[in-house]
Amino acid sequence: MKVLITGGTGYIGSHVVVELLEQGHEVEIIDNLINSKITVLDQIEKITGKKPTFHQVDLLDQPALEEVLTNTHFDLVMHFAGLKSVAESVEQPLKYYSNNITGTINLLSVMQKTEVYNFIFSSSATVYGDQGTGECVETMPTGTGITNPYGKTKYMIEEILKDLAVANPNFNIVALRYFNPIGNHSSGLIGEDPNGIPNNLMPYIMKVAKGELKELSIFGNDYDTDDGTCLRDFIHVVDLAKGHLAAINGLKPGFTTYNLGTGMPTSVLQMVNAFEKISGKSLPHKFAERRPGDLAILYANPSKAKTELNWQTELTVEDAIKDTLTFLAQPQNNP
Ligand code: NAD
Ligand code: UFG
Repeated sequence: MKVLITGGTGYIGSHVVVELLEQGHEVEIIDNLINSKITVLDQIEKITGKKPTFHQVDLLDQPALEEVLTNTHFDLVMHFAGLKSVAESVEQPLKYYSNNITGTINLLSVMQKTEVYNFIFSSSATVYGDQGTGECVETMPTGTGITNPYGKTKYMIEEILKDLAVANPNFNIVALRYFNPIGNHSSGLIGEDPNGIPNNLMPYIMKVAKGELKELSIFGNDYDTDDGTCLRDFIHVVDLAKGHLAAINGLKPGFTTYNLGTGMPTSVLQMVNAFEKISGKSLPHKFAERRPGDLAILYANPSKAKTELNWQTELTVEDAIKDTLTFLAQPQNNP
């Protein structure tokens, strides 16, 4: 297939590009490089032996987008491009609504105009809000109790996709609801290395392990869980990437959602302990106040993806930590 990947130089997109190239698909990438580096293309080539065509285009620039989709006819678009910082979205909601929602509407408008109807969207477990039990099933209602504008953009985009699939029955749309992606390709050549102080657990742990940050604060140890810290469904990004290839088989008329998660919750403290054990070094950490907006427990029921897409995770949290250590050992990540 000829596949267009928006956000393809980013953390998750680059891993999906690798899997697609390795399965023989043709890939072109659109990214404005606001949160990724052009050198990712060389790393993808080192892993796969192929360098995807790259277009430095902003999704807010509809004419530029239209040029890319007019010059090449794509069979499928996978849409990863978006801003994703929960904290920044609270401070700058308009930036998030504009980039994520207008960007998606521009992309879908151009797809409709150029008659490209297969679409896979990077959604998030955040659309479930607070369901009470912590286990998320696709049949649950979405959209209530979402505590930040970033999460709301994911919910709103899902609603837009639902409406579009009704209005134009040519569209085959899948929204993949990711749980907590961690780790990187086993080569260590691509991975996540955000600038500044990270919001997310694994990038923060990585900065502490590198000595760039003093210690990890574990937000809350008085939750109603075995060790008092929050439980999350950490999924290896390579498993997540493979879920996208499986989702191609799930494309059918209308709008369909799948959870991509392991189904097995791990606590924040278990993650820290596993990191210390595998790295053989202590990871400075302390317990701190709960972080506003955090849910105690959030994990996927992954049955639908297993039954309908024949996909399930194969890698463990320990594999993700080992691969993270390989990434951290790369010379470019240790200047
Ligand atoms: P990322 O920031 O590494 O990748 C996103 C890419 O999109 C970046 O390369 C960025 O430069 C690009 N981009 C942003 N706005 C753009 C625009 N207007 N035009 C063109 N390019 C643009 O993030 P990621 O972790 O790889 O996430 C990919 C997708 O998955 C995002 O939509 C994110 O919201 C979603 N998601 C991520 C997580 C997670 O924990 N990482 C969880 C759930 C959902
Ligand atoms: N945590 C810490 N210390 C840190 C960072 C995180 O203790 O420095 C804890 C959090 O309190 C939480 C857990 O680690 O209990 C996971 O936090 P993350 O920020 O890594 O992930 P979240 O589960 O909060 O959010 C992630 C993505 C969102 C997505 C959401 C859906 O970042 O994009 O999952 O569940 F919407």
